[in-house]
Amino acid sequence: METLVTVHSLVRWLVLAALLGGAALGWYRYRAEVAWESGVFQIGVMTVDIQVAIGVVIWIFDDGWSETFFFKVLHPGFMLVALIVARLGMVVATRRNDVRSNLYAGGSFLVSLAVIVAAIPWDRL
Ligand code: HEM
Repeated sequence: METLVTVHSLVRWLVLAALLGGAALGWYRYRAEVAWESGVFQIGVMTVDIQVAIGVVIWIFDDGWSETFFFKVLHPGFMLVALIVARLGMVVATRRNDVRSNLYAGGSFLVSLAVIVAAIPWDRL
């Protein structure tokens, strides 16, 4: 389980980079009037899927219950909200399927990123 926590800790950087990159790309593609293509955004949101899945495993099998309120409730709750925001953005963007979709996907990534940054235990690097 210690290894999984280390992986969870490292994957955080991947998630942050993917969401920041996705937000920037969404904005760029919107401004450049590029047609919607979900591919690279899907990869971005999948990093959040994977991180949340790892988190759930740790939460269930680790000694998480003896942890603080932050790790038992706040951290998982915020991260689930962050995943839902990014996933909803992808759904809306894909349904619209136009240039503005880039803005919706990128915007949802930015909001998701803000929620994640707020809920990361930054004292554990
Ligand atoms: C994007 C989503 C997430 C990010 C970026 C993230 C990030 C982190 C980081 C950086 C740590 C500290 C690791 C360390 O001690 O070195 C941590 C710990 C933890 N996370 Fe997450 N997490 C996410 C989602 C979740 C979810 C959804 C859950 C549970 C459902 C969860 C459960 C936990 C638990 C229980 C710990 C404490 C592990 C321990 O020290 O025993 N995480 N998380």
